[in-house]
Amino acid sequence: MENNYQEAVKCVLISEEDIRKAVKNAGNQLSQEYAGKPVLLVSILKGAFIFLGDLCRCMDIPCRLDFMETKSYFGGTESTGTVEIIKDLNHDISKYHVIIVEDIIDTGRTLSEVIKIMKKRNPLSLKIITLLDKPARRIVKLDADISLFTIPDHFVVGYGLDYNGYYRNLPYIAEFKE
Ligand code: IMP
Ligand code: MG
Repeated sequence: MENNYQEAVKCVLISEEDIRKAVKNAGNQLSQEYAGKPVLLVSILKGAFIFLGDLCRCMDIPCRLDFMETKSYFGGTESTGTVEIIKDLNHDISKYHVIIVEDIIDTGRTLSEVIKIMKKRNPLSLKIITLLDKPARRIVKLDADISLFTIPDHFVVGYGLDYNGYYRNLPYIAEFKE
């Protein structure tokens, strides 16, 4: 993998500049929408950590951050639930307007399970913002409230998204060639 590291990511799909502009717009929009409200930005680790970091710095209202990490068992033999919480939130979300910050919605299965878990905890409100949306592969009907980029059915890496744990540190979104 290290030998082909650069070759695998030659095709830039979304540039650093385009990401920066879109994230700034989204931050402005959220700042207006949530002004005066207790806001909790929740990121699903690990893919969304860079998006969250940049998004929260484009918001000029008070907000708190929290993280959840999950493990999925879709198509597995587990009979109890399809998503296991590896790391749970530290906040009582019933006191907050929660914004889930996601890297990409692909099949929609992970996020729809996370939403079920969150709704049981009665947040003041719940919205979803995703950096990328890949609607062609959707299995569960699920739409983000805010989606920054809709992309075709390609596997992408960079800006937090990984292939086998690598490429998260690329500053742009690239199409990945295996
Ligand atoms: P799904 O919507 O449940 O299918 O899963 C979404 C998760 O799969 C995302 O949060 C990513 O972590 C991962 N994922 C889906 N598509 C891609 C991709 O193109 N590149 C990198 N990770 C992806
Ligand atoms: Mg993810």
